Amino acid sequence: MFEIKTGQANSKRELYADLAQQAEGMLAGEPDLIANAANFSALVFHSLPDLNWAGFYLYDGTELVVGPFQGKPACIRIALGRGVCGTAAQTRETQVIRDVHSFDGHIACDAASQSEIVVPLVKADGSLLGVWDVDSPSIARFDDEDRAGMQALCDIFMRAVNQQA
Ligand code: SME
Repeated sequence: MFEIKTGQANSKRELYADLAQQAEGMLAGEPDLIANAANFSALVFHSLPDLNWAGFYLYDGTELVVGPFQGKPACIRIALGRGVCGTAAQTRETQVIRDVHSFDGHIACDAASQSEIVVPLVKADGSLLGVWDVDSPSIARFDDEDRAGMQALCDIFMRAVNQQA
């Protein structure tokens, strides 16, 4: 059984480094996308402080559809270009939103969400897998260290995805 390790990291950077190591171990040798996405969501949600949602929106060829996540039930379908998730998917650039209420077109799934980070997930062949979305009930929860840390975690996740192909 996989057990989440907690409490050793002193800085955000160390926390992400530790999390990256745990993600590597958790995903190693497992080819199932949904299993890996579900466990990845649980690992991040239960390891990082001050989050109210962490999960995947997967691209079905037309729009984003909610995938494995931790948190309250969420909006199911998001068009490319809509909200923070749709913007990350369309631009293929990580979105770090310090106050979701000031983001034009933000989709409020959980009224508790105040800030958000969304990382686009692109496969080795250049096609879009979806996005990784994390929400916080605090304003300005995510900074450049979170951007780097989340992108590194998503790189680990995408390496596991690309190995199945
Ligand atoms: N707030 C997101 C929608 C997804 S939920 O946060 C889970 C957005 O604007 O894309």
